[in-house]
Amino acid sequence: MSRSAHPAGPRHADVMSDGHYLAPADDLNVLDQKVWSRTVTRDEHGAVTVGGLTVSRLAEEFGTPAYFLDEADFRARCRAWSDAFGPGADVFYAGKAFLSRAVVRWLKEEGLNLDVCSAGELATALDAGMPAERIALHGNNKSVEEIERAVAAGVGRIVLDSFQEIVRVAHVAQGLGKRQRVQIRVTVGVEAHTHEFIATAHEDQKFGIALAGGQAAEAVRRALTLDGLELVGIHSHIGSQIFDMAGFEVSARRVVQLLAEVRDEHGVELPEIDLGGGLGIAYTSDDDPREPHEIAKSLGDIVTRECEAAGLATPRISVEPGRAIVGPTAFTLYEVGTVKPLEGLRTYVSVDGGMSDNIRTALYDAEYSVALASRTSDAEPMLVRVVGKHCESGDIVVKDAYLPSDLAPGDLIAVPATGAYCRSMASNYNHALRPPVVAVRDGEARVIVRRETEEDLLRLDVG
Ligand code: LLP
Repeated sequence: MSRSAHPAGPRHADVMSDGHYLAPADDLNVLDQKVWSRTVTRDEHGAVTVGGLTVSRLAEEFGTPAYFLDEADFRARCRAWSDAFGPGADVFYAGKAFLSRAVVRWLKEEGLNLDVCSAGELATALDAGMPAERIALHGNNKSVEEIERAVAAGVGRIVLDSFQEIVRVAHVAQGLGKRQRVQIRVTVGVEAHTHEFIATAHEDQKFGIALAGGQAAEAVRRALTLDGLELVGIHSHIGSQIFDMAGFEVSARRVVQLLAEVRDEHGVELPEIDLGGGLGIAYTSDDDPREPHEIAKSLGDIVTRECEAAGLATPRISVEPGRAIVGPTAFTLYEVGTVKPLEGLRTYVSVDGGMSDNIRTALYDAEYSVALASRTSDAEPMLVRVVGKHCESGDIVVKDAYLPSDLAPGDLIAVPATGAYCRSMASNYNHALRPPVVAVRDGEARVIVRRETEEDLLRLDVG
């Protein structure tokens, strides 16, 4: 397992408290509302239900493995974020967490904006009717084609990530006779993950332009001189699965400092700052995420305070939550295939999916919870490791958990909080067919991304 491979920083998800799962929960049948989506409960027979539908019926109709997404919960979370930030701020959902045309329509209806980071995400957003001015384009190496498509479509902002890109976007915009609204992504020297953050003078990573050494100030200088660009603000994203607001505080302070420098040097007050995404969710009962209104208040207070101190008008704030919106809204449903007790160690429970539908455990040592979903049980708890059907031993879905000891092949088990970065990072390893995403709402279930077929696989293989 390679912790250093984490794209959002090397220290994410490895902050596992020692002995975390040493003790089973008092009652394994209880579903901790912290980790399950809002409409999940058990019916009178003990089966897990979502949106009023039982998992056995869902499994029958849609097969396993499958992701079941609680649409009401998704929409409620969108509303909670936009209500918390209010009309004076903007919430951009980070599409990389999970994007589909249905999701785009929900975002549109709930009044959110959308952050995309590739031509594919942009195409999905536009195809589903998201107004271009509500889309932001990200990426540390956007191709000229991607930039052209975004500028031509009229996206609301492009977040510039390098000196080359400043020139590239300006050139494309000018060629199309446009003036593109842009922000500059800066690296503020803060890396935040889960319960900790570190503030350093510089960051050894690929994103953004460093504040350190006057790099970001130079980027602003250049962007302000180019006709094709309308520089509207500064952007900072400091990490992922963050609970500790202190990292945002340092980041906001440093960004506001730059705004003050820009005002002093150019007489321009940039009107926007974006503080990125990265807010944490509960994967296990040990996690205590912040509510959107607490986050909004905390960020708003920091920015207002820092701006007052610098004599600046408070800029319009935006944020880009991905995981915090979609993560808790879905669970993955698996069927148990084999149950293998290893004397003195633990019991390995093999399911019909694995690292192809959830790479996060293998990639980041991420923690997940799991519950017996098709029924309840009063059997004693047993320590399990839920593993997939792929050909390697790192193919782990849930590393340490307890399930009832009468668990048997054919039982359905569900892993909550798999809405973010599971389907979007799914693969065809071992020619696995990527599972469907099924949206459930008010007693109705609807496939929003269908299951792949062998035909899909063979279509790409041109022989
Ligand atoms: N904005 C920017 C510029 C980002 O780079 C990201 C995530 C977000 C917003 C959304 O972050 P969120 O709120 O979802 O944490 N695959 C990893 C996460 C990578 C995040 C990359 N950037 C994982 O599964 O944990």
